[in-house]
Amino acid sequence: MSSMIDVNDADRALKAKHRTMWASGDYPSMVETFLLPLGPVLVEACGVRPGMRVLDVAAGTGNASIPAAERGASVVASDLTPRLLDAGRERAESMGLELKWVEADAEDLPFPDEDFDVVMSCIGAMFAPHHQEVANELVRVCRPGGTIGLASWTPEGMIGGLFRTMGPFAAPPPPGAQPPPLWGSEDHLDSLFGDRVSFTVLERRVLEITAFQHPLDWGEHFKQFYGPTIVTFDHAHRNGREEELDEALAAFCHEWNLGTESQARFEQEYLLAVGTRK
Ligand SMILES: C[S@@+](CC[C@H](N)C(=O)[O-])C[C@H]1O[C@@H](n2cnc3c(N)ncnc32)[C@H](O)[C@@H]1O
Repeated sequence: MSSMIDVNDADRALKAKHRTMWASGDYPSMVETFLLPLGPVLVEACGVRPGMRVLDVAAGTGNASIPAAERGASVVASDLTPRLLDAGRERAESMGLELKWVEADAEDLPFPDEDFDVVMSCIGAMFAPHHQEVANELVRVCRPGGTIGLASWTPEGMIGGLFRTMGPFAAPPPPGAQPPPLWGSEDHLDSLFGDRVSFTVLERRVLEITAFQHPLDWGEHFKQFYGPTIVTFDHAHRNGREEELDEALAAFCHEWNLGTESQARFEQEYLLAVGTRK
């Protein structure tokens, strides 16, 4: 019993840390700067239609939820971080759209079994630390014959590379936590969902980014606005390694730049996975 209490306390503390991390910087402005195209891609791939009940897990500011609501679906946008939900609610209201915004941990969703026609997550659920728990919850709340849709950064792509670059400077991951970009691996999805979901779309695609002129601007943007990069810089700072991390990030930006020194171009690879819940 006491070890159960310890586990729950440790998990609550971990989630509180994650909530603070995602509320730091300015994630909504990252969405506006270059992530907006991803949501509609996922919504289209999931075949969202008017009247469907759709759950967006780790919805953030509603990058996928809002386009689903625009299609006439009845949408619940759920996320761990109230600050991002508030920003999403404001954006939706300014567009005259009504959605439900619910604070929820992807590992323990506060919804009944088989409640939704579509359960989706756009580069979101991948950031909850316990992958199998998340996969089980996505399956549980989706009705049999319903759709599960995911867009996830791949391990081999640019965001997978960013996490590898930051890894040596970051605090060690808590016991049992798995790396987010694993969700972008076809084999990992197979091991998480097994025969409970039959994937009809498993495609690697790229999000092209031309919003930055100099290649180092990409790194500066992440350093200023992206929670995982901000906490890694804080940790490196505490260990006297901030300069080293700055250099590693600059080398990373140059390595991944497919444009020029005055007009950068990056491709961030993601795995689009859409399947039917059996
Ligand atoms: C990269 S953002 C993606 C947000 C949004 N889906 C989008 O496409 O912009 C990752 C999101 O995962 C959320 N998140 C992280 N851990 C979570 C958890 N355990 N449960 C629910 N949401 C979580 C964060 O709050 C953040 O909104």
